[in-house]
Amino acid sequence: MEFTEFRVTTRVVAGWDLAASLDVELSQAGLERGLVVTDPGVRPLAERLLSASHRLIGLHDAITPNSEVGQVERLAERARDAGAGFLLAVGGGSVIDTAKAAAIVLTEGGRLLDHQGVNVLARPLFPVAAVPTTAGTGSEVTCYAVIRDGDAAAKVIFTSEWLPPVLAILDPALTLGLPPALTASTGMDALTHAVEAYLSNRAGPFSDALALAALETIYRHLPPAVRDGSDREARWHLLISSCQAGMAISWAMLGCAHALAHACGGLRQVPHGVANAILLPHCLAYNRPAVEARWWTLADVMGADPVKGVAALARRIGLPERLREVGVAESDLGPLAEAAILDGSIFTNPREATVEELAQILRAAY
Ligand SMILES: [Fe+2]
Repeated sequence: MEFTEFRVTTRVVAGWDLAASLDVELSQAGLERGLVVTDPGVRPLAERLLSASHRLIGLHDAITPNSEVGQVERLAERARDAGAGFLLAVGGGSVIDTAKAAAIVLTEGGRLLDHQGVNVLARPLFPVAAVPTTAGTGSEVTCYAVIRDGDAAAKVIFTSEWLPPVLAILDPALTLGLPPALTASTGMDALTHAVEAYLSNRAGPFSDALALAALETIYRHLPPAVRDGSDREARWHLLISSCQAGMAISWAMLGCAHALAHACGGLRQVPHGVANAILLPHCLAYNRPAVEARWWTLADVMGADPVKGVAALARRIGLPERLREVGVAESDLGPLAEAAILDGSIFTNPREATVEELAQILRAAY
């Protein structure tokens, strides 16, 4: 290797009950007049944060899972009307991605879909701070925002060096109450980030270190966190490692599991982590011929054959194993493969996939 690069532009702070000192962190970052962005499920927590800082001016909770273009544009309008100076995203990946995408509209104007494409954004964006309440997406540090285009029944991925939030506050206390199913699915999203970043054809030494550290930690601590949500050690490690995996994918990017998972989320609104958990073992089996040297490192870190290890982990934490169990019809498989071949995540898959090969992976996972 003759060249490598890495950057993390987000200031990351992590600690138990850190959310209580939110005001100090916002002050240090020079952030004022923040609009809190959340979803109805997380609203009580977001209200507590709102009342704990005079740097926050209001709350917007109209965000759903797999959030859509219209929600992003309504959030931007609300922030503009309120005279907000930054967005504080409190929630899971959908909430954080919605805030990041709204920052595009707030900075560049126009409609969200006017700004599609890789690196079309040329200047710093309206600031976003993130308080993740799941240990999954790593969106609090990534250069991506994934938004559903309801009209096209597809996911649109925005990628830019300006998209990472300026501040990420990791407080594992906020994840203690996360239900087992959500802990399981978001944890498998983070694990998929670690695996796909490590096998990516863009992987480098810095992303490798973060990806492998995250994989080892998630693999070990996800089952106890699902079994006992109040396991503080497991919650701490999962939140840190999902953020590490987010850093890894910001450089190394992803692979065919994410390309297919985005397609499943776009067409049938399959929860992102569930789709990844179902697809990853099949994608690993497909990619193996292209990643033989790295395969043994994965096996070493997991202490198991990677395909069997990932499938057994997903089973152990109670996730579905088949696409047919999560609302995907057999007639969807062709359109899903067609959508996945156009997804940005496919370009860094270690094996160059054809539409027919993607359809085979889907059939194997069906
Ligand atoms: Fe993901």
